[in-house]
Amino acid sequence: MTADQLNRIQALAAEIADASKTFKGSSELFMVDSPPFLKKCEKLVALVQSPAEHATSLIVRTMETAVIRTLISLNVLQAIPTAGFISLQCLSVATQTQESLLERLLRIVTRTGFLISENGAYSHTHTSLAYVGQIGALFAPCYDEGIRGLIRLPEYLFVKDKEEAKSARHSLFTWNEGQEGKSTFEILSTMPARTEGIHTLATNVQHLRPYTGFFDYAKLASEDRERFVFVDVGGGNGHVIKEILQAFPQIQPGQCVLEDRAETLELARRTGLLPAGVQLLEHDYLTRQPIPNAKAYHLRAVAYNLGDAELVQLLKQIVPVMGSDSKILIAENILSDDKGTAFSTVSDMIMLCIGGKERTERNFREVLDEAGLAMDGIHRAPGLEFGIVEASLKMP
Ligand SMILES: C[S@@+](CC[C@H](N)C(=O)[O-])C[C@H]1O[C@@H](n2cnc3c(N)ncnc32)[C@H](O)[C@@H]1O
Repeated sequence: MTADQLNRIQALAAEIADASKTFKGSSELFMVDSPPFLKKCEKLVALVQSPAEHATSLIVRTMETAVIRTLISLNVLQAIPTAGFISLQCLSVATQTQESLLERLLRIVTRTGFLISENGAYSHTHTSLAYVGQIGALFAPCYDEGIRGLIRLPEYLFVKDKEEAKSARHSLFTWNEGQEGKSTFEILSTMPARTEGIHTLATNVQHLRPYTGFFDYAKLASEDRERFVFVDVGGGNGHVIKEILQAFPQIQPGQCVLEDRAETLELARRTGLLPAGVQLLEHDYLTRQPIPNAKAYHLRAVAYNLGDAELVQLLKQIVPVMGSDSKILIAENILSDDKGTAFSTVSDMIMLCIGGKERTERNFREVLDEAGLAMDGIHRAPGLEFGIVEASLKMP
């Protein structure tokens, strides 16, 4: 270690000691970037760690990730009492899992401090306890739909093209599931627990994907009652239309359409979120858009599920039915060219698995251009990467 490195470590340690005097606690929000105090601590670890220590820690952490996911699915974390200890034997009986296997799995998570072990018995830390609840419910789908496939990326790229998936039907995800040729949504619809996990994840990152506060949907309102104003393409269970109509009463429910796959529309009917009057239309977004001349075709959290070629294909199905003042509104993260946030970086890796993509402004311009559309503007939610890309027909 050089004298300069040592000086930097000591200066940072002093800064951390100083900042600890006013430290008010950590963030409880999922997928947000580390707040300043934690960032400093992470920077200190990076400065102190040698490359060998980094690699060791990375290997242990990666294995711990798979083990924590396993402990959740074996109900091991759930079987540990919220206060006090449980013996290995009792844990084995409660989870119907071989004692010696459990002992080995638990060794890694007690080593990292995730769980506590004393005299052959185990107890929770405040972190592991949180994994029994909401944090575990958010961690599991990230593992199942992202990490699980990503671990096999080197192998996948070795047998496949070394490029982004051309179609969501032929992705790392479909290959890993042994179901190439099917769409991600078709595959997931046969897995209710994983679909539920994704739904829980999506509803718990709304602080990073707000519905309103950055785009004036009121300007879409039309006196012409015969004209559709808001077509929500791949609109999900109706929560988006509900929120937008609530915030912009100028838009009439009867002028809105929720388009999605039959199964999702069924879910929308069951959840009853949609305001009365909104029409439901079964539609495959890779086929011709059935509603002509709408004021806006809205795609929220849809573009990122698709690779460039499929997004262009989707947009090209709308372009021929657009009027001269029709808009396409794409609500997504709009990444900056250099560094992403924790949320968009993680999301992009999950999308890489399923054949989708988080995009920069430049990426959006390219796909819009190829589909015959021009970007009219970007409306970002304050302080977030999320926003609306507004587009319309290219002028001849
Ligand atoms: C990530 S969800 C986003 C839902 C909603 N827009 C939101 O912001 O919560 C993607 C949606 O696309 C729908 N979808 C997937 N493939 C589709 C297809 N081929 N045609 C129409 N909708 C599709 C799914 O059913 C799902 O509702």
